[in-house]
Amino acid sequence: MKYFIANWKANKNLSQTQDYINKFLEIVGMLEQSKVIICPPYPLISSIKEKIAGKNNLYVGSQDLSVFEEGSYTGEVTAKTLQGLVDFVILGHSERRKNFNETQETIAKKVTLAKKYQIEPIICIRNIEDWQAIRDQAKIVAYEPVAAIGTGMNEDPKKVTDFKKTLNLKPETVFIYGGSVKSDNANSYLGTKEIDGFLIGGASLDPENFKKIIELA
Ligand code: PGA
Repeated sequence: MKYFIANWKANKNLSQTQDYINKFLEIVGMLEQSKVIICPPYPLISSIKEKIAGKNNLYVGSQDLSVFEEGSYTGEVTAKTLQGLVDFVILGHSERRKNFNETQETIAKKVTLAKKYQIEPIICIRNIEDWQAIRDQAKIVAYEPVAAIGTGMNEDPKKVTDFKKTLNLKPETVFIYGGSVKSDNANSYLGTKEIDGFLIGGASLDPENFKKIIELA
C-alpha cells in the first residue's frame, strides 16, 4: 500500500476546492493499492468529506490540531472537534516548527491528543533529532528535509533510504518522503521498496498533477 498525502498548506477557497474534488473524482480511477489523503485548510474539510463519502482509500486529513484538548482557547481547532471529520492529521511540519515555534514537546502533546480522538498522526521529521523526540509514538513518519521543501531540490532517493536506515523503524512503521515531489521524480522513490509514499505540497494543488503521481504506484 502506497500513501499519497496532499498538503494544500494555506491554499484554496471553497469554490476552488469543489472544482478540484469534482475533477479529481472524475480522473482518478479505483484506488486499490494506494491510500490518498487530502489535507486542506480546516474550513474546507467538511466539503471534501461530503464529496468523497463512500470512496475507497480516499481520506481527508487536517494539517495541524490544537495542543489544547478543549475549553477557552479562542480560534483553536482541537482533536475533539476534528474527531469524525478527519482520519489523519499532519503534525510537526517544519513550517509549523519554524513559523509557529512548535517544539518537540508541543508536537508530542498533539500526537497524544490525536490518538485519543482516533485521528492517525502523520509525524513530520527534518532530521534524526526530531525522530528521537517522537520515536515511540510514530506509526506514520514523513521525512522532509527542509532544503527540499518547495525548492524544486528534491533529496536524492539514496540519501532518503540511507536516512531511513538510521531510524531503526519497526517493520510496520510507514515511511513517507516529502520535499519537491513531482510526477517526473516520483518514480525514482517508488522504485525502492523502502519508501511507502509521499507528502506532496506544490504538486498536489492541481488535480491533474496529483493524479499523475498517484498513477505511478
Ligand atoms: P513541496 O512541499 O512538495 O511543495 O516541496 C512538501 C511539504 O511541505 O509537505
